Amino acid sequence: MPPSAPIVSVRNLVKSYGEVRAVDGVSFDVHAGEILVILGPSGCGKSTTLRTLAGLERPDSGEIVLNGKVVSDPRKGIFVPPEKRNTGMVFQSFAIWPHMTVGDQVALPLKVRGYPRKARRELVGKMLDFVDLGGLDARNGTDLSGGQQQRLSLARALVYEPDLLLLDEPLSNLDAQLRQQMRVELKGLQAKLRATFLFVTHDQVEAMTLADRILVMRDGRIQQLGSPGELYKDPQNPFVHAFLGKSIHFDAERVEVDGAAYARLDDGCRLALRDDGVEGTGGRLKLGLRPEDLELVAGSREPRPNEIRAAVRNVIYLGDRYEIALETCGVEFIISLEDDSRIHGDEVLLRVKDERLKVWPA
Ligand SMILES: Nc1ncnc2c1ncn2[C@@H]1O[C@H](COP(=O)(O)OP(=O)(O)OP(=O)(O)O)[C@@H](O)[C@H]1O
Ligand SMILES: [Mg+2]
Repeated sequence: MPPSAPIVSVRNLVKSYGEVRAVDGVSFDVHAGEILVILGPSGCGKSTTLRTLAGLERPDSGEIVLNGKVVSDPRKGIFVPPEKRNTGMVFQSFAIWPHMTVGDQVALPLKVRGYPRKARRELVGKMLDFVDLGGLDARNGTDLSGGQQQRLSLARALVYEPDLLLLDEPLSNLDAQLRQQMRVELKGLQAKLRATFLFVTHDQVEAMTLADRILVMRDGRIQQLGSPGELYKDPQNPFVHAFLGKSIHFDAERVEVDGAAYARLDDGCRLALRDDGVEGTGGRLKLGLRPEDLELVAGSREPRPNEIRAAVRNVIYLGDRYEIALETCGVEFIISLEDDSRIHGDEVLLRVKDERLKVWPA
């Protein structure tokens, strides 16, 4: 990340609705030119966080600094209204106004901000070309396709060059194929404009596609903040592990055998523990693996350390691969194989790439 001062700085943000702490002590920075994605399940506080940044909600406490200026701090009685914060916002419903032309819709934010007519016409033309709507400025906004409406809402939010663009699930109303295409377009657009995006989604693939950094939220709190690679490879808890990619979780007990530490599954299989930061035996552990951390071992025999035994529940042929549904200690999971010729009978042995094993205290 560039060492420049952050565009946004949020410190200890709290926002409650009655009993619900929608945002519960959240702190993070957004740097100039990056896409920070807030990722988390429904109700975890993503939209509330975004809306407090835009000034659409008043936080209970905490500080928000936008481009070096404190725009919200209830303790000091500071609250800058939305129109005085130079942020743009794009919502899930594109909120395209009916009975207004594409050109007028993009010009409106400039008009409100007092841009003269000539500058407005120039900027609107440039922006519409930019989002590939050039030549459609006389069309009615609601007579555009879904993808075009989404690009119009982007043009409207970007035309006055906001310091920060806040996007709340802006692609979720598009069909799957268009959504995928728009993700790539959006990232290209952001890079070209060198704009700063704070993007909210509950879709992990969307987060991985777009983000420079991802902030994972749950129940109003930050679970982890880091690059997509950091979060995928080094999740700090089972929730983050499960939210990004496919995950397999086992309960285990920490044991020591001949001076070496292992996690022992309920069926007796043992997985070697690297420095897990825990001492002694008997502690309960939560283990995390991904399907790609497991290798099929040929032959049937007693499992050695770092091998687990799994019951074969189903084999599905998908043309380019087989999906094998397995079960170990009551946990069901799926691995992919190019061919199923090494599966005999109703049990398999899997070797765990032990450097990939994630271990947390239960
Ligand atoms: N105006 C409101 N009044 C009361 N409760 C609210 C209000 N807005 C949000 N909440 C509650 O605050 C919590 C966080 O809501 P928020 O909209 O921020 O979630 P979200 O992460 O955006 O979820 P989603 O993915 O479903 O959009 C939820 O429990 C929600 O019910
Ligand atoms: Mg939301």
